[in-house]
Amino acid sequence: MHLDTPITLGGLTLPNRIAISPMCQYSAVDGVVQPWHSMHLGSMAISGAGLVIAEATGVLPEGRISPHCPGLWSDAQEAALTRLIAGIRAYSDTPLGIQLGHAGRKAPAEGFDSGRPAPPELGWPTVGPSDIAPQEDWPSPRPLDEEGIARIVEAFAAAARRATRAGMTLIELHGAHGYLLSAFLSPLANRRTDRFGGSLENRMRLPLMVADAVRAALPEGVTMGMRINGTDHAEGGITPDEAGTLAVALREAGLDYVCVSAGGNSRHQQIPPTVPGYQVGLAEEVRRRSGLPTMAVGMILTGRQAEDILAEGRADMVAIGRAALDDPRWPRHALQSLGARPDYPRPYWRSGPDIWRGYAAVHPEAGPG
Ligand SMILES: Cc1cc2nc3c(=O)[nH]c(=O)nc-3n(C[C@H](O)[C@H](O)[C@H](O)COP(=O)(O)O)c2cc1C
Repeated sequence: MHLDTPITLGGLTLPNRIAISPMCQYSAVDGVVQPWHSMHLGSMAISGAGLVIAEATGVLPEGRISPHCPGLWSDAQEAALTRLIAGIRAYSDTPLGIQLGHAGRKAPAEGFDSGRPAPPELGWPTVGPSDIAPQEDWPSPRPLDEEGIARIVEAFAAAARRATRAGMTLIELHGAHGYLLSAFLSPLANRRTDRFGGSLENRMRLPLMVADAVRAALPEGVTMGMRINGTDHAEGGITPDEAGTLAVALREAGLDYVCVSAGGNSRHQQIPPTVPGYQVGLAEEVRRRSGLPTMAVGMILTGRQAEDILAEGRADMVAIGRAALDDPRWPRHALQSLGARPDYPRPYWRSGPDIWRGYAAVHPEAGPG
């Protein structure tokens, strides 16, 4: 079986190939994680996943996606994250990572996926590569100057230091979905004529500067990757070929993996039907081009589907989002459906397939134990 085979990404060996995808919870207060985050990440940490990645976390106040998103620019935020991780560590050794990001022109969103901007009293002026609003009814960002860019690069490095001090052993840079790094990469959002715009080499400059700064800030052994767009799903946007070139550059910059998603850079995007595995082809292309360990994400719904993606060499890992919100034991159930017998947390031991007679009725896909 591939799904339960350990994988080493940089200094970190994960016990299996299932990652919990970063998912905004819109539940932070002043960027500080709350008991909800302990509940959410704690439950994912006992899910049986090989890796849990915490949600997009702003490296600056104006880098949050919404006023309710966590941040990592202050001592109070770092202290709360440190406590959260210590609490989880008392019960689980599942590797924990965090997605660090700057939302750029796509903030401040109202929160809870409404797609609307936050009300003015909660909002802030936005920045971006160019003066192009993300949607018709959203404000236009202020194009960043060199000084503003340098401040953001340093903020990523500082947040990465805070995250690792707090106990995170993996840093994922958010370079997808039209947020700041993704916007710099996309010709649809980036119309600059300086060294940060135009050619792919120039559009990659900011993400690579951030990657270099974060890599330099991280202690030895901390794993680092980036979520990128394999396509913008819009004419004139980033292509799988360009994403492959980016992944090669990220590998050369010392990144340990890439996770391939898509979209979010254009109000004219045409997202294809989100059928099972709809983004796996993008991961496959990026993996083939770059040779970098690659996570596939998007509508990966069953253990068999995940196993086939890995067995066919289309990705090295799968990241699971909504299926894990629906069933916070999804990784364990997926592994069990393929015949593996992953460990249980001791207090839940009596619900395991070899002990509880009800298991087969609840999970007929698991077959005989
Ligand atoms: C509630 C929610 C919050 C999300 N927040 C993030 C995020 O913080 N960062 C990110 O890169 N993707 C985010 N996503 C996208 C997921 O990580 C994932 O890529 C997407 O849901 C597709 O995978 P799935 O079909 O397994 O859910 C979010 C998705 C959901 C449902």
